[in-house]
Amino acid sequence: MKDKKITRKISQGVYVLTTKNAGCIVDAVSLISASDNPIISVSVMKTNFTNEAMKQNDIFALSVIGKNSNGEIIKTFGYNSMRDINKFENVNTTEIEDIKVINDSLGYMVCEKIDEIDAETHTLFLGKLIHADKFSDEEELTYSYFQNHKEDYIKIKTETGKTAWKCKVCGYIYYGEELPENYKCPICGVSSDYFEKI
Ligand SMILES: Cc1cc2nc3c(=O)[nH]c(=O)nc-3n(C[C@H](O)[C@H](O)[C@H](O)COP(=O)(O)O)c2cc1C
Repeated sequence: MKDKKITRKISQGVYVLTTKNAGCIVDAVSLISASDNPIISVSVMKTNFTNEAMKQNDIFALSVIGKNSNGEIIKTFGYNSMRDINKFENVNTTEIEDIKVINDSLGYMVCEKIDEIDAETHTLFLGKLIHADKFSDEEELTYSYFQNHKEDYIKIKTETGKTAWKCKVCGYIYYGEELPENYKCPICGVSSDYFEKI
């Protein structure tokens, strides 16, 4: 493979995926069919708490993050695990079909899960759209815009005096002189090749 980075030219948005008692930021979302009964897919890392929850629940929701949405939402849902914090504690939500959707978003899509496909490190969940609403016509945040303006959204700060390695894909910071062997980013799963010393 000459340059895998060409895959980043696949346009993706940024969403909060929620299901019962779980949720995380995702960009790997596709509209599989836009017929009368739209089908949507979302790919979730097997190591994420949300993956376990998605397997146990039949309904999931995607809240669309806008370009002007509060970056705290991305920080809370994308850089933390529900194993460690209650992500919903300080976020305004509305319940649809018992699933929380994010009020500070451009709208939501609630889906009934129809299939799960194993994709090595990820599980691809397919859902049929059962409820949807649009709160705003503002521009959506694209994954590529987020990548180029990450600091504006998540305001990454490093501790002074410590050697840090930053993931070029998601901005996660690892502290240590060297990265451990076969290290993978705990947030986005990329290998140590994508880390730069800062
Ligand atoms: C911009 C962005 C995009 C992300 N896209 C995905 C994705 O498509 N699939 C996924 O499984 N994780 C994705 N993540 C990582 C998860 O949101 C992250 O690992 C989260 O902490 C998992 O939380 P959980 O353990 O509570 O499920 C993304 C994170 C960010 C910041």
